[in-house]
Amino acid sequence: MTKKTAVITGASSGIGMELAHLFAADGYDLIVTARRAELLQKLSDELMKSHNTSVRIIQMDIAQPYAGEALWKEICDITPTVDVLVNNAGVGDASEFSTEPPEVIERMIHLNISTLTALTRHALPQMVLRGSGKILNVASLAGYQPGGPGMAVYYATKAYVLSFSRAIRCELESSGVSVTVLCPGATATEFEQTAGAEKTLLFNWSKPMDAKTVALSGYRGMQRGCGEVVPGFMNKFLAVSPKLAPASIALAVNKALLARRG
Ligand SMILES: NC(=O)c1ccc[n+]([C@@H]2O[C@H](COP(=O)([O-])OP(=O)(O)OC[C@H]3O[C@@H](n4cnc5c(N)ncnc54)[C@H](OP(=O)(O)O)[C@@H]3O)[C@@H](O)[C@H]2O)c1
Repeated sequence: MTKKTAVITGASSGIGMELAHLFAADGYDLIVTARRAELLQKLSDELMKSHNTSVRIIQMDIAQPYAGEALWKEICDITPTVDVLVNNAGVGDASEFSTEPPEVIERMIHLNISTLTALTRHALPQMVLRGSGKILNVASLAGYQPGGPGMAVYYATKAYVLSFSRAIRCELESSGVSVTVLCPGATATEFEQTAGAEKTLLFNWSKPMDAKTVALSGYRGMQRGCGEVVPGFMNKFLAVSPKLAPASIALAVNKALLARRG
């Protein structure tokens, strides 16, 4: 039996790295991408040693225009068949929109939206033709919110990922291809620092979940063909909470949660 191949973006740390371990343990070959090649190489060495996994590394900055096309071309140079595509790479930025640097906004939209969309578009035709394949998109609990004052662009990108994933899942019904969207709440990864969110109440009011647990929820949900996965009991409640109150109240709560202290 030939091994299946999974592509994982953003596998150099956090949830993406934990997902790579889970795929490797299940016998998948991997193509992993990120900018920090040394971390990907370390991951590759570990997975080769522990699971005899073949790991191919693509070092690329995918927060740029047409990065999805460029990355897909490199993936196709490695393999003709992608069985699973995991769109995990993403960044946030805890800033007031009016003072947020335009290039930070541009790069966030390219990475969180454009590259994810382009990669999915490129991966799907071969999956549909085969009648099998899986897409796992990493959105966020933020995607369920009416908005994130203090992190407006990030919340909006994740609402896009959630909406997009739901819609294409519906389009692909009966195709043999599943689309799962993983919506984590606060999770202990590098994200908190890189997004500048470490001083927000959101990351301090309760203990963030660990990346391993979040990745396992997403992985299991994807293998079962679930549409949406929200890891953790409290997060499940927070995902439905915007439906229980007027948007103005949810926005005020989010504003307080995202305000930077100190
Ligand atoms: N942590 C949370 O609280 C949380 C909550 C909800 C959703 N999420 C989502 O979970 C996903 C994974 O994030 P994480 O929490 O695991 O954070 P993380 O540890 O910061 O991981 C982010 C990954 O994305 C990659 N990446 C970032 N910018 C990139 C670029 N320009 N080009 C290529 N790769 C890039 C990073 O690799 P390099 O730096 O090596 O390029 C890294 O591997 C993201 O989509 C995030 O929005 C996180």
